[in-house]
Amino acid sequence: MAIHIPEEKILEIISAANISDIISERVVLKKAGKDLVGLCPFHSEKTPSFTVSPAKQIFHCFGCGAGGNVFSFLMKHDGIGFVDAVTSVARRYGIDLPTNDMSLSQKRTISERQQLLDLNKRVMAFFTFQLEDRIIGEKPRAYLSKRGFSQEIIHRFGLGFAPNEWDLLVRFFRKINVPQSLAEKTGLIIPGKNQRFYDRFRNRVMFPIFDVSRQIIGFGGRVLDDAKPKYLNSPETVIYSKSHSLFGVQEARNRARETGCVYIVEGYFDLLAMHQHGVTNTVASLGTALTAEHVRLLRRGFAQKAFLLFDSDEAGLKAAHRSVSLFMNEAMDAEVIVLPRGYDPDSYIFAFGRDAFDALSEKAVGMVAFLIESAVNANGLSMEGKVRIITELTGPLSEIKDSVARSIYIKYLSERIGVDESAIAGKIDASVRRAASQHSAAGHASRQEQSASQTASTGENIISPE
Ligand code: CTP
Ligand code: MN
Repeated sequence: MAIHIPEEKILEIISAANISDIISERVVLKKAGKDLVGLCPFHSEKTPSFTVSPAKQIFHCFGCGAGGNVFSFLMKHDGIGFVDAVTSVARRYGIDLPTNDMSLSQKRTISERQQLLDLNKRVMAFFTFQLEDRIIGEKPRAYLSKRGFSQEIIHRFGLGFAPNEWDLLVRFFRKINVPQSLAEKTGLIIPGKNQRFYDRFRNRVMFPIFDVSRQIIGFGGRVLDDAKPKYLNSPETVIYSKSHSLFGVQEARNRARETGCVYIVEGYFDLLAMHQHGVTNTVASLGTALTAEHVRLLRRGFAQKAFLLFDSDEAGLKAAHRSVSLFMNEAMDAEVIVLPRGYDPDSYIFAFGRDAFDALSEKAVGMVAFLIESAVNANGLSMEGKVRIITELTGPLSEIKDSVARSIYIKYLSERIGVDESAIAGKIDASVRRAASQHSAAGHASRQEQSASQTASTGENIISPE
């Protein structure tokens, strides 16, 4: 449906907005003459060719050609429509959009996204209210304090409580006149029998999940006892995509930018414990495998370096196997911190404190070295062991796109286990070729990237007047 926002309103919004503020929330930008540059969020690159001109209020990427104004940026980056982009910028700068002359159905469609975000905010307030209730909130408050969490941290992350009832939220939505179709799209209520709905989250401590602009995109909830499942999360919705979202980004970004590194943990409480102990550059992957989008988000908008924290050797190993190429291909340095057996970041930092954690952090090892050492530990250096080591590492090493990086690791591996370098390289190259013939498009992307970095290094004032 075509929705008309008056031209003069759009101009008002554009002139109130500052494109560098909005892009800065998502991409680390550095000054370059009168422009700002950063790593392009729209394609893979290692040298910045993404340029923002505060003077012209536009962005342009010399690598992939993406460009436009603040609205086009948001549309492309957040995957939203024009009206949503306009609405979100208007909100941010406190400008009212005229909705009087719109029909009800127009208002409904105008920004489902915005309505869901608004609704989530009310839901968070609702859950917080329950947690603070003298009687209803008693058990969850006791639970949180037993686990050592301070009032301050509970407040900072907006924790709440979903009481042990079937349809409290369903009734809340009805009370505040939320249209049923919208209520369903939050993913917070679930259809049952006879057209009845019930609450997804019951008797759980609630964690709102924010995006970098501090909008609430989803929720997670933990039971207070040993009930199963221990954790529940919002399903994928119009505003929540697991593969693009990380828990804690809203609190972690500034410190990550200051320190140049970001810690990645798995769980909600791991993250709270880290932040409570002052390691505020921590985000959580919420039990799902890291995706290329997660890594790109962190590399573009947070820091150059990641520390991955895992509960155990095996979990760490699995994750390292899966994600080594993700980090490598986004040119993000990744190191692994292995906690003593039986500990997760939450229990470790509460038991041993911040200094012990920092000492452990000092001993972090690069991800590839970690993979190699783990394979050596697991298989030993007998002939059979060496064969198994090479077999295990062929997968992760062959996924590294940069052939120089790949050959450096192959050399290291060859020296570490005493196997001829060219033999290992031969096996890995064969695997690379097999993968390449499967997706023949891969070569195209890396050529594009190369020409992008050449363009970027040619000058400072690279936005030319149109
Ligand atoms: N997780 C999930 N669903 C589950 C189990 C785990 O989504 N059934 C996610 C949660 O985000 C959880 C993370 O994976 O925080 C790590 O899980 P786990 O290590 O099992 O839990 P902890 O974070 O240690 O939880 P707790 O300390 O509360 O027991
Ligand atoms: Mn735990």
